[in-house]
Formats: sequence, structure tokens, C-alpha cells
Amino acid sequence: MTEPLPAGQARRPRVLVVTGTDTDVGKTVVTAAVVATARAAGLGVTAYKPTQTGVAPGEPGDMAEVERLTGVTTVEGVRLRAPMAPRPAAALEHAVLPTLAEHVARVAHLAAGHDLVVVEGAGGLLVELTDDGETLADLAAAVPDSGVVVVARSALGTLNHTMLTREALSHRGVRQLGIVIGAWPEHPDVIETTNRDYLGALPEGLLGAVPLGAPQHDAPAFGAAAPGWLPGLAQRLGTP
Ligand SMILES: Nc1ncnc2c1ncn2[C@@H]1O[C@H](COP(=O)(O)OP(=O)(O)O)[C@@H](O)[C@H]1O
Ligand SMILES: [Mg+2]
Repeated sequence: MTEPLPAGQARRPRVLVVTGTDTDVGKTVVTAAVVATARAAGLGVTAYKPTQTGVAPGEPGDMAEVERLTGVTTVEGVRLRAPMAPRPAAALEHAVLPTLAEHVARVAHLAAGHDLVVVEGAGGLLVELTDDGETLADLAAAVPDSGVVVVARSALGTLNHTMLTREALSHRGVRQLGIVIGAWPEHPDVIETTNRDYLGALPEGLLGAVPLGAPQHDAPAFGAAAPGWLPGLAQRLGTP
């Protein structure tokens, strides 16, 4: 029988799924910050991008950016040229997308060889990743020991987008680990500070915020700073 865990001591997930309230909110940079934070906690970590769109063969995609910022080796699922959602992008080149079971198997294989696998979605949560219309939420629900991190903007509009995303997650019974603000300005305005307070007061809470300009760091500086950007996550990952 499983012992109940004391409050605040929830088991560390083996797979961390990074979604966003929209495209371009900082999922890739947050994925890198999560990877760097896991490394700083002494964990063996990799990242997986199930569906990379908008990138031609041989060009650097999101996982190349994660590698640049962390030095960690990453894995890409399928790559499609068109800069659009995976299903229409696949249709344009008559490509067959991997099935949900194939993605689950790849994540399980990576999880068997690492302490933590960080999965970066495409676009927002309900973007379809497979020819059967499954989404990142379905992938998170199907992968054992997983939890979702929601990347949000700091500016006006983020509260509605964040609440929609977390409602969709809870509707599907997906474990929510917390929210990360993708790009936090040096001089936030009152909308941004009240947004941050509001998100921080939600039950799953704010894991942290990545400062504006973070992608300009090289890997050593990024790695040294990342746990300080994500204190809520650093605490969770330090707890086996
Ligand atoms: N903290 C940040 N500071 C400055 N630029 C950022 C920050 N986070 C993201 N960006 C930039 O914003 C763009 C979108 O970020 P990205 O992480 O690729 O978003 P997503 O993966 O959600 O599409 C990129 O050009 C990225 O370099
Ligand atoms: Mg990305």
C-alpha cells in the first residue's frame, strides 16, 4: 500500500510536460530552464519535442535551442516544414504523424534512461499532435508519473488564458505542477505585478518566472541562474 505523503512532499514526477497558454509564450526557454534546474538538482535529464513544426531538415529547432542553453542532449519526434499546427503541417507534406502510443513509448524509453524527461508541446494545450486528434493533454494523461507546467505571459490577457488552460487540464484529470511566467520584465507594470500575485495564489502556484533576456545567456550562466528563476521547481526536484 502507498503511504500518504506529507503535505508539500508530493512525489517528484519522472516526466514534466511543458505547455503554454499560447504559442510564443516562452515554452522552449522555460523547457531549457527546467532542464538546467533539474541538472543543478543532480538529476539525469533530457528533453523531448514530440512535434516540431516550422523547421526544415537540418535547421535548428526548439531542441537545438534547449541544447544551446543547457548542453544537454535532446530528442525530437517528428519534424514538419510548415510554420503551423502539426496536423495541417503534416497534411501539406502528406506526412503521417506518430500515434499517441508511439509518443508514449518514446517518452517511456527516455524516462527509463533518465531521472527526468521534459516534454515541450507545440503551441497551446489543445493543439492536435496526432492524426487521431490527440493533444498534449492526452499525452500527459497517458504518461505515468507526469505533471504539467503551464507557461504564461506576464501581460494583460494572461489571466484568462491561464485559467482556460488549467481548466482544460483539470477537466482531463492531468496533474498540474504549477505555472511559470516565460518572460518577466525588469520593471513590471501594475498589471504584471497583480497578474503575478494572482497566479501565485492559485492552488498549484507559481514555480517561478524567467527574466526577460534570459536566452542571451550562454549555457554556464543560464545553468547557474535557472534554479533561482524557478525556486518552486528547484524545491520540488530536490525532493526525491
Ligand atoms: N525570458 C525571455 N527573454 C527574452 N526573450 C524571450 C524570453 N523567453 C522567450 N523569449 C523569446 O521569445 C520567442 C518565443 O519564445 P519560445 O521559448 O520559443 O516560445 P514557445 O516555445 O512558447 O513558442 C523566442 O524568440 C525567444 O527567444
Ligand atoms: Mg517552442
